[in-house]
Parts: sequence; structure tokens; C-alpha cells
Amino acid sequence: MTTKKGIFQAAIAQAEATANAERQEAEGYVLYKYNDYETYRRVQQDGNKAKLGAQYVQKGHVFFLAGYLERELGAVRFGLCHGVRRGKEQGWFRRRLKGAEVIGTDISETATQFPNTVQWDFHDPNPEWAGRADFVYTNSWDHAFDPERAFNAWVDALRPGGLLLLDHTPGHVPRSASALDPFGATEAALEGMLTRACGARGQVVGWLDRSGDTDYPARVVVFRRNP
Ligand SMILES: C[S@@+](CC[C@H](N)C(=O)[O-])C[C@H]1O[C@@H](n2cnc3c(N)ncnc32)[C@H](O)[C@@H]1O
Repeated sequence: MTTKKGIFQAAIAQAEATANAERQEAEGYVLYKYNDYETYRRVQQDGNKAKLGAQYVQKGHVFFLAGYLERELGAVRFGLCHGVRRGKEQGWFRRRLKGAEVIGTDISETATQFPNTVQWDFHDPNPEWAGRADFVYTNSWDHAFDPERAFNAWVDALRPGGLLLLDHTPGHVPRSASALDPFGATEAALEGMLTRACGARGQVVGWLDRSGDTDYPARVVVFRRNP
């Protein structure tokens, strides 16, 4: 029987073979460089298909974030979740934030199999979303080949005062990076990069500490777009 760990290791091995990417190390982070965009897209899509049955973020975490958003923002009407694979997270946000429109993205063509999910590369700003989102959430930032470009696209979608939420877990640290998860960063490096890329349009307002959660231990960096 193939175990979940075995499936994940096989997906990384396949990505390493396909990508032939160069591992670059900097202070607090690791970033793999692909030869071209098509290789990146193929690696991500193959990885998505290999792990299509898997689920990383858990319902309790999404419900916690939804409660935080309501306390901070009042009514939440529109949100985006990036890199959602099976679309579970936007389903849980929708359930908890009754009446909110929450859309998920995934780069893989499998996106269209799941409700409220669109095939979209999260590095690209979408004019239909610009300045509209009360919140943008993702735990897939470690799949970015150009993190600063991705952060800018996410802030672009926020309405004035809207919130960007990025999970940081043990799976997001530099030593967890691979050709499949090309970016890994410490909390300090992640916050520094976010501030460097988007500091003219907002600021990091804090971290939510969920590291004691048994299902999904995480800390969440919160960036608020200027009102
Ligand atoms: C580690 S999985 C996380 C899935 C889901 N968020 C969860 O918690 O189970 C990362 C997902 O991000 C998607 N992805 C990778 N690069 C992407 C990109 N540039 N734009 C959108 N989705 C991307 C992958 O296809 C994959 O489904």
C-alpha cells in the first residue's frame, strides 16, 4: 500500500526530475529558480494531480480565521483563497461567513472540478478582483516562483482596509523548500519580504498564534491594506 508520505515523496522526486531547478539560498529563505514558466506550470500541475486527494489546512483553522475577520472587519462580503487544490477552504469560509462570496484559485486544470474554484496563477492580478476583496487567504505562498510579484497581486485585490492572511507552518520553513514547493522562509524573512514588496500600500499588523492547535499548528501573518 502506498502511504501518504510515500505519495508526497514521490511527487517531490518527480518535480525535482522535471524541474531541474536551481536552489538559491538567501538570509532567511530558499527559492528555487525554474528555467522557464512552462516548466514551473507543469511541475505545479503534476504535483497537484499527484496529491489531489490530500488536504492540508483544516476546518477549525479556517473557522478561527473567519471569526477573526468578522471581529476585525464586521460584515465580510468577498474573499479570495489562493492555491486551494480541492477548494475546501473557500467552502469552509463560505459556511462560516454566511452570505460571503469566497472564490478559490488553483493553477491546475483540475480547478474546474471543484465548486467556486477558478484556474488562475496567483502571481497574476485579476482586474475583476482589483480593490474588491475584504480578505485574501493562502497557505500556498510556498509555491510562488516570484513571491514579491505574488504578494503584490494579492494586495492589489484587497479593498482599502482589507486583510491578507498568510499561514506559516513547519511546512513553510527554508528546509522544507523543494522543486515542488520552491519557496521556504522563516517568519522574519516572510514578514520582511511582504513589507519590502507591499509596504507602500499597507503594513503587517501582527501575527495570529495558532501554534498550539493539534490539527493544524500555524502562525498567521496579517497584512492590512491602507484605508
Ligand atoms: C500544498 S497545496 C495546498 C492546497 C490547499 N490549500 C490545502 O490546504 O490543502 C498547494 C496548491 O497550490 C497550487 N498552486 C501552485 N502554484 C500555484 C499558483 N502559481 N497559482 C495558484 N495555485 C497554485 C497547487 O496546484 C496546489 O493545489
